Amino acid sequence: MSTGKPIGIFDSGYGGLTVFRSIFQQLPDYDYIYLGDTARAPYGNRSFESIHQYTWECVQWLFSKGCPLIILACNTASAKALRTIQQQDLKNEDPSKRVLGVIRPTAEVIGDYSQTKEIGVLGTKGTVQSESYLIEIHNFFPETKVYQQACPLWVPLIENGEYDKPGTDYFVKQYLDQILAQSPNIDTLLLACTHYPLLLQKIKAYLPDHIQAIPQGDIVAKSLVDYLHRHTEIEKTLTKNNTQQFFTTSFDMADFDHHAALFFGAEIKSGFAEIKC
Ligand code: DGL
Repeated sequence: MSTGKPIGIFDSGYGGLTVFRSIFQQLPDYDYIYLGDTARAPYGNRSFESIHQYTWECVQWLFSKGCPLIILACNTASAKALRTIQQQDLKNEDPSKRVLGVIRPTAEVIGDYSQTKEIGVLGTKGTVQSESYLIEIHNFFPETKVYQQACPLWVPLIENGEYDKPGTDYFVKQYLDQILAQSPNIDTLLLACTHYPLLLQKIKAYLPDHIQAIPQGDIVAKSLVDYLHRHTEIEKTLTKNNTQQFFTTSFDMADFDHHAALFFGAEIKSGFAEIKC
């Protein structure tokens, strides 16, 4: 177990591993701790209060493991909990610590992907209801039209290992039809849930050639590289021993390891994280 100062990466379950995978590719030298709150996932349909409480408990656990910087690699937690954590909780806990989300870095660049300046955002119910992407994308790209579609069945299908099964095609088609029906000019679909890259093959197979589907892992990773360049006061507190640790709040660690390997793209061995509620 590392005694260093790792970067903490958090998601409700496995989805954040698609972001961690990109971060690790772009910044391989740092130490990392990944925490998946699989015992309480999915978060997507939960209330604001529950998502904030669960996320803050997990953030505190990562602080207790020495992380000075935590990435909420979960759109739902970024939409529903990040602001309260940044503006209230951190002030009481330790203002020197940093917690970052995935929505702002994605919104900062997504407008550049679209020729027509019409973008569809696919996310969980929580992310869509928060309207965070509508607000953030309009801040950076005021001329861009943004459409949203909640895809509440995708995360449960993915978490239950159905992401590559034929039955899932029906639900992929259903939500894609719903968002594309909102405008014939959409040329870019943002996968605004860190689980959805596992459906990328099926999504691409269904989309016409002129519509692209964009996962956010590489975008978030690039933004973190930039953040660390700009914030040397944080960067210099981080240790670089090239270690990666994985933790789950679920007792079934073997099950976590099996699923997590698919998201991370490499074998992993997890430990149990006891979260104080
Ligand atoms: N992976 C999370 C996200 O990016 C959501 C999964 C969940 O519903 O817990 O929104």
